[in-house]
Amino acid sequence: MTVEFSIKNGNPEKQRNDCVIVGVFESRKLSSAAAAVDQAAGGYIDGILRRGDMEGKLGSSLLLHSVPGTLCDRVLLVGLGKERELHEREYRTAVGASVKALANGGAADVASFLAELPVKKQGIAWKVAQLAEVAMDSAYRFDQMKGKASKANKEKESKGIAKLIINVPQRNDLKKGEDGLSRGLAIASGVSFAKDLGNLPPNVCTPTYLAEQALALAKTHGLQVQILERADMEKLGMGSFLGVSQGSLQPPKLIVLQHKKGKKNQKPLALVGKGITFDTGGISLKPGADMDEMKYDMCGAASVLGTFKAIAEMNLPINAVGIIPTCENMPDGNAIRPGDVLTSMSGQTIEVLNTDAEGRLILCDALTYAERFEPEAVVDIATLTGACVIALGHHASGLFSNNDSLAKELLQAGENALDRAWHMPLWDDYQNQLDSNFADMANIGGRAGGSITAACFLSRFAKKFDWAHLDIAGTAWKSGKEKGATGRPVPLLTQFMIQRAGKSSS
Ligand code: BES
Ligand code: MN
Ligand code: ZN
Repeated sequence: MTVEFSIKNGNPEKQRNDCVIVGVFESRKLSSAAAAVDQAAGGYIDGILRRGDMEGKLGSSLLLHSVPGTLCDRVLLVGLGKERELHEREYRTAVGASVKALANGGAADVASFLAELPVKKQGIAWKVAQLAEVAMDSAYRFDQMKGKASKANKEKESKGIAKLIINVPQRNDLKKGEDGLSRGLAIASGVSFAKDLGNLPPNVCTPTYLAEQALALAKTHGLQVQILERADMEKLGMGSFLGVSQGSLQPPKLIVLQHKKGKKNQKPLALVGKGITFDTGGISLKPGADMDEMKYDMCGAASVLGTFKAIAEMNLPINAVGIIPTCENMPDGNAIRPGDVLTSMSGQTIEVLNTDAEGRLILCDALTYAERFEPEAVVDIATLTGACVIALGHHASGLFSNNDSLAKELLQAGENALDRAWHMPLWDDYQNQLDSNFADMANIGGRAGGSITAACFLSRFAKKFDWAHLDIAGTAWKSGKEKGATGRPVPLLTQFMIQRAGKSSS
């Protein structure tokens, strides 16, 4: 479903539409838009609150019909929590509650007055961008793979917000509102693209499919793109990446995307995304339960493509390179075995002690390949370890870096975008867990600190540049009833790019 957005400056009581959204603080304190409605309605809202129907608890809502003195059909009251505690996350919770409250109802044409709320440290543009992102997130559906009949049924049932007017408090906020809206919509479209790629089944979303998507993206947005085939990778000596792909009938691809909208001499930022389109574990086969979720093992790649879509739509003045090694990890007569030794493009040799630790094997060659772009910084994004999910759960991505100021920038971008990461150690103390008797290193470091030793492995291929690694195994998708890709960390990465673009232009 698509939502049509616009920015306006008007009075809540004068909106002629299906619903007006206004906020209520705890305890029963009206926001300025709610107060304006209340005044037009002769104290009607205040009366309802006093009767105890709503306290203003964060995330609560109350839908009212035919409020006197207004021109709209409905007024949705949204709980904002304590006024002094309305920070970024609370704001997003309130916005999320407002969208959810209308998701299955009859209100299609809606005006939200939540962007007027004071959120510490954030201005109109941020609030509008978040509103657009949250509304798009809630409107997202993945029914590409459903049959005709169930699709037709869905269409008929489809309800919820179709037109969303975002109100700003003053006329001279309109420009900031428009800027925030286009930024929010660009991020939302990157997120939605990444979700689609993640949700597609592994028999559709193959390495070849990802390469085609990159070609199409490049064509639409005027990006440069190059697809390296197996023969090209053989010439480059990518023995580690090719080792992982050799058990699959699907040909591997190395996708290279370039967005060149910055100054000519400006070094590019590189994003490297893990693109395992299905991870069976290989000969070190995974257990059967939930193995279907290993279709999400290309979410790092999807986040790179999503971020490039977002920065291209914004026409962000920056130079960026996206590098995506993509293949399948399958068991087969030709697959790599535990004990095999692979020679990476860097020349370093790797003893494969577990074929299920394949992400690092494809990323290491992609990192070496990144050197040729002389990048200002490299960020890799990967659903790399189950251990990261144990460490951080599903809330924060794991962040590792060989440069503390780069780490800080990424953490900051994550906070701002409400797509958080947490800084993990990359101390040398962990490195010897990767010792091998037969090669320069082993591809696993034992159970203890599994996400850290995986990052340590990658760090050996990232010596020539400032580098950060995001382990998104816990954040890229949801399991259970709400199973689906989240589109994370497209918001974090895009915000990082925006921050960098701001720095280099000023
Ligand atoms: N793609 C997985 C990581 C993963 C596992 C992500 C579960 C999300 C949920 C990765 O390729 C993998 O299999 N990692 C192994 C590494 C181990 C063999 C050292 C893991 O985490 O078990
Ligand atoms: Mn694996
Ligand atoms: Zn994997």
